Amino acid sequence: MISQNTIQQIQGRIDIIDIIGSFIKLKKRGTSYLGLCPFHNEKTPSFTVSAAKEIYKCFGCGRSGNSIGFLMEHEKYSYVEALRWLAQKYNVEIEETETTPEQKLQQLSADSLFIINSFAQKFFSDYLFNNEDGQDIGLSYLKQRGFREDIIKKFQIGFNPEARDSFAQAAINAQYNLDLLQKSGLVAIRDERPVDNYRGRIIFPIHNQSGKVLGFGARILKTNDRAPKYINTPENEIYVKSKILYGSYFARMAIDKADECLLVEGYTDVVSLHQAGIENVVASGGTSLTPDQLRLVKKYTNNLTIIYDGDSAGIKAALRGLDLALEESLNVKLVLIPDNEDPDSYVNKVGAAAFTQFVAENKKDFILFQLGVMLQDAGTDSNKKSAVVNQVAETISKINKAEDFTKQQDYIKQCAEILKIEEAGLHALVNKFVREKVNKEENRASRESVIHVNTEGNQNFEVDEEVVSLLYKDEPHERAMVRSLLEFGLKSWNDEQRVADHVFSEIAENQLEELIDNKNLITLIKTYKAWYDEGLEPTAKNFTYHEDNVIRQLAMQVMDYDYEISQNWKEVYEGKIDTREDLYKEEVFSTVNYLKLRKIKRLMDENQRDLEKTKDPEEQLVLLQIHQHLKQMEIELAKNIGTVIFK
Ligand code: UTP
Ligand code: MN
Repeated sequence: MISQNTIQQIQGRIDIIDIIGSFIKLKKRGTSYLGLCPFHNEKTPSFTVSAAKEIYKCFGCGRSGNSIGFLMEHEKYSYVEALRWLAQKYNVEIEETETTPEQKLQQLSADSLFIINSFAQKFFSDYLFNNEDGQDIGLSYLKQRGFREDIIKKFQIGFNPEARDSFAQAAINAQYNLDLLQKSGLVAIRDERPVDNYRGRIIFPIHNQSGKVLGFGARILKTNDRAPKYINTPENEIYVKSKILYGSYFARMAIDKADECLLVEGYTDVVSLHQAGIENVVASGGTSLTPDQLRLVKKYTNNLTIIYDGDSAGIKAALRGLDLALEESLNVKLVLIPDNEDPDSYVNKVGAAAFTQFVAENKKDFILFQLGVMLQDAGTDSNKKSAVVNQVAETISKINKAEDFTKQQDYIKQCAEILKIEEAGLHALVNKFVREKVNKEENRASRESVIHVNTEGNQNFEVDEEVVSLLYKDEPHERAMVRSLLEFGLKSWNDEQRVADHVFSEIAENQLEELIDNKNLITLIKTYKAWYDEGLEPTAKNFTYHEDNVIRQLAMQVMDYDYEISQNWKEVYEGKIDTREDLYKEEVFSTVNYLKLRKIKRLMDENQRDLEKTKDPEEQLVLLQIHQHLKQMEIELAKNIGTVIFK
């Protein structure tokens, strides 16, 4: 881990113009700099960099971020790699934080596994190309399948000799530790002697994002053998199957450029497509996609195209787990390769151009495809068919991000048509699933809150349904509160308190979950509080450079640099307009109180629902009293907020 101190030193020296300027040509334009956006094709520049705000933003494709974000996006660096790059550029010496003995041991073991894997990869490649057996058996097999030498070298494919322990002996002679050799999966102990695990197999190394070898897939040569076709590295400190997509190291730039990731089943599919010049491709190994793998894809693109052979058992596996992709707003398409071919054999048969054309013309939408498969399974059984309707509604309900709203509407329309049911009915069903999900989260939150009841007479009241439903979704207000904390937290509130003190006295830590829905915003506030309590002075910048990607992104969004009044504007109207800066106390006051008001509205809504349910007059009375009390609180709060203008 890089120490916080080092990170702050790097932050202090960053010159975003200098950093971005070393990758693209920037011209000064007013207070900011302008250039051609490196993330999308454009002829007129719409990529701006602001030195003052230390951010870049493209008005064409909408990408934005700070220096770290730029390096991560443009160079595909990890957070730590970006920090190291900056440290080197600005001559900051990197100070690593203390690690626990267990961490050290684990790190040591992980490092050693990388070193052993690198040794093994070189051994296998060397054997393939330079040993007579390797050439006769391994290389000739690969060539007969049509793989070119340059591509075999690029993917570092190799061959493990057939003899019992050639590799094991070489590794032991080179002083590698036998325990670690076993852990790496390269060597096993048989009859108390070390033997090679991948004897007589073609070896596909599997690389991580920076090109280091995590493990291997070892393919048998002979067909009809009783042995498994592939032996894979066992799970260890560095080989975690659920986080790996084969080929991602070679594909990352191409995925970014094409803004699409192709997903195939096998190692050979990836290698063949690469050889044909189709490089934006990774393989899952035929299992269903895991959340970590989806996240890896999402780092590069929102468009995932799954290409499987038509009769693959893997299709159903691939479809499983894809609801998760919807929640992550990935666009998933599916292409089935015809005639018993797989992507490897098909691209070899028809060539790259025809392959690309086939994929483009045969992309099926994932939801519609899944619906087709399920309907076919259901046949004429009406019970099964209604289960399908439910299933589809649930899948569609997973598309719940505001920006995907129209997409959801489109699906409802299309699926209703295919199912031959009323669109309105499907709509209602989808909403039911959405509501159930919201309720589940809501109930948890409100169960924890205690309501005090006072005893006054009852009165007529009304609940504005529309407002209530809006209140369930208004995350912008949560962000506004966090933004005012990040921006003004260290300013004075009154003679004794700073804004942060005030905020934390208004909202206790254990109330955060009740007042704020977005879990990540809660984490952000808690981090702020922890730092603040430690005596640190947290700034917005500490968060936009935070080591956790989620917090970093969120801080960037929360700060929402677009809406700032331009310097120019301020100069022209000097003294005539109040800026947020001038009105910060009001802003803090109203954003905090707004969240409280929202909480009360929610409680009232829930109370109302209980009231509609009960027939017991005594219970009704209690509920009405609760309502009265909440109403009173609402009026008080609204009065306070009313004195402040929302902007
Ligand atoms: P395939 O059987 O399609 O293999 O399995 P392939 O990679 O396309 O190889 P060729 O073209 O027949 O030579 C697809 C993937 O499933 C995993 C591997 O990751 C393989 O690439 N697999 C398959 C295993 O892990 N173990 C097996 O025994 C078989
Ligand atoms: Mn294959």
